[in-house]
Amino acid sequence: MTRTQQIEHPRLVAIETTNRCNASCWFCPNNAMQREKQTMSDDLFEKIIDDCTKFPLDKIEPFLNGEPLMDPKLIERLQLIRRKLPNTKLCLYTNGTILTPKKIDALVGLGIDRLYVSLNTLDPERYESVMGLKLERTLKNLDYLTHPTRRALVAKLITIRMTRTPDISHQEQKEFVRFCRKRGVRPFIVGPFNYKGDIPSALPVPNFPCEHITRVDILSNGRVALCCMDQEGQYSWGDIRQNSVLEVYNSEEALRYRNALRGGRRRYTEPCNACNLFWPSLDHMPLFKTIKFTTEYLAYLIKHRPQGVRRPDRSQ
Ligand SMILES: C[S@@+](CC[C@H](N)C(=O)[O-])C[C@H]1O[C@@H](n2cnc3c(N)ncnc32)[C@H](O)[C@@H]1O
Repeated sequence: MTRTQQIEHPRLVAIETTNRCNASCWFCPNNAMQREKQTMSDDLFEKIIDDCTKFPLDKIEPFLNGEPLMDPKLIERLQLIRRKLPNTKLCLYTNGTILTPKKIDALVGLGIDRLYVSLNTLDPERYESVMGLKLERTLKNLDYLTHPTRRALVAKLITIRMTRTPDISHQEQKEFVRFCRKRGVRPFIVGPFNYKGDIPSALPVPNFPCEHITRVDILSNGRVALCCMDQEGQYSWGDIRQNSVLEVYNSEEALRYRNALRGGRRRYTEPCNACNLFWPSLDHMPLFKTIKFTTEYLAYLIKHRPQGVRRPDRSQ
């Protein structure tokens, strides 16, 4: 068995418990998704969690393309994850609009490690035009969530996220940071991803390996997508109804992507050569490559400032 053929474990498993969403963010591919809208069956969800107990898993995300709170069984599913994977970090994203006080109370004590609320803007008009929803309701939920007596009971770390579209001013980004700090939560601002060319974004495509090669992204129908940018599962690694999580992660197709990207061949690998996801994967490679890719990543951060507060300019 060669070095590249050794069995590897994914560091993260993402499970699309539902691909339904109540928002219509223009920059999110969920808007134009062709796949059937569905909630994952209990059998499939439980099978995935059982598969995950067979190897050391660092992180689990029970959502993908959709709003996890649209899944009526979300709380039970979080409880199952906690019971069966007590040492795995549990991360949840939500747009927060249906994160009502009742739902927040239900999340208390579930052992969520990271909770992200995708707020995107504090401007009510822009909120409505970006997400198709009312800001007022979300802000009320956020007030309840971030109350000093409650926030630490809901999750170890709460982050409020903004997708930095070109029309968001420098001032608005700074106000967003102040808003988060005042509520004792972490602000996180990131430029738009282009979903392998499907969504407009001026951030360039890097050549260093993408962090998504070390995760498994399971769609609500059981197909395993290449990554969370493969919203239709067009570049599938396999099907979790037929194989285990570990088998799919070590399938020929998955290995082909990992070997190509770790070998510095992202620019020749479809669809990664059209995708601007800029978080790197730096492990499982010789030291000189780790240094090379780390240097390229740092240069990318300095040149393009893909995350954090940034003045809008003509290139973005
Ligand atoms: C696809 S959503 C799914 C979870 C949940 N519905 C939410 O809004 O957080 C996950 C995250 O991706 C972000 N997102 C969607 N499209 C994006 C894009 N083109 N670039 C950057 N982030 C994006 C969302 O704003 C959200 O923070």
